Amino acid sequence: SHLKNIIHGIPKAELHLHIEGSFEPELMFEIARRNNIALDHDSITSLRKAYNFNNLQEFLDLYYIGAQVLIHERDFFDLTWAYLRKVHSQNVVHVEVFFDPQTHTDRGVGFDVVINGIYKALEKAKQELNISFKLIMSYLRHLSEEEAFKTLQSSLPYKHWIDGVGLDSSEMGNPPSKFVNVFEASANHGYKLVAHAGEEGPEDYIWEALDLLKVVRIDHGNRCLGDDALVQRLREENIPLTLCPLSNVELKVIQKMEDHPVAKMLDKGILATIHSDDPAYFGGYMNENYYETAKALNLNKNQLMQLAINAFKASWLSHETKEKHI
Ligand code: HPA
Ligand code: ZN
Repeated sequence: SHLKNIIHGIPKAELHLHIEGSFEPELMFEIARRNNIALDHDSITSLRKAYNFNNLQEFLDLYYIGAQVLIHERDFFDLTWAYLRKVHSQNVVHVEVFFDPQTHTDRGVGFDVVINGIYKALEKAKQELNISFKLIMSYLRHLSEEEAFKTLQSSLPYKHWIDGVGLDSSEMGNPPSKFVNVFEASANHGYKLVAHAGEEGPEDYIWEALDLLKVVRIDHGNRCLGDDALVQRLREENIPLTLCPLSNVELKVIQKMEDHPVAKMLDKGILATIHSDDPAYFGGYMNENYYETAKALNLNKNQLMQLAINAFKASWLSHETKEKHI
């Protein structure tokens, strides 16, 4: 269709993507087989049928189970390479990828195994697909700050490969304030800071992420529109929100795509952007997220271009490289 062609034609940046959430059932079955691991489902179809979520936690439960088949460096490489090939086919030219070290190190998989596999695939994509990248290590917020400190320590031999840290997993009951010290320590090691906030959690968590953690971007941030002072803060300081519309519908953060706040956010001058979060679980990569949002909210070409430009502005590319994309 015309709209799909427009969206495909726009060079895009993906800033909110959990690599473990790009694990397609086909590849999951293949890796499970070669690692001699039994899955709870006997077919790809039956696994996909289980992807039916009422909230964030129901998704996370399956997402962590799926990740358990990743054991060897090659597994992490294959996962990341499959994602990069897929987004290359969608005209994505820059990615800032999250990975969750604790999901793997807690099962006895080495930090080195995880990051080597992911990083080598990113490097290959830079060489062969001309995709630029940044890498973001996320702390799991349902675990303690002490556990996050251990992860920070494990990351230090690789800090030249890691651009920033994030905060993800179960939001309710795990406010940003729980991680003040480890975020401060991460910044002292040179990491940039982002955090998921205001996906299921209240506006307060967005304030905390800004004031206590001192993040430079908010992942999701859906709930900000209820708070005029917060909207003003986001606009005045040009703090990007990395929104994920299909994720929001699938996790019942909103009831239907027509309710998505992104158009209102653009109207209010917020640096809003669109991304895919966990595309293998939520039914779409970048182009599908743009398309479903544009269709439901009647976004015009200028708004679509604005969303794509905002993502480059919000990215961690150098000023000169950003200018080339904008
Ligand atoms: N929210 C919180 N944690 C996550 C998400 C999300 O959308 N995806 C993967 N981990
Ligand atoms: Zn996310």
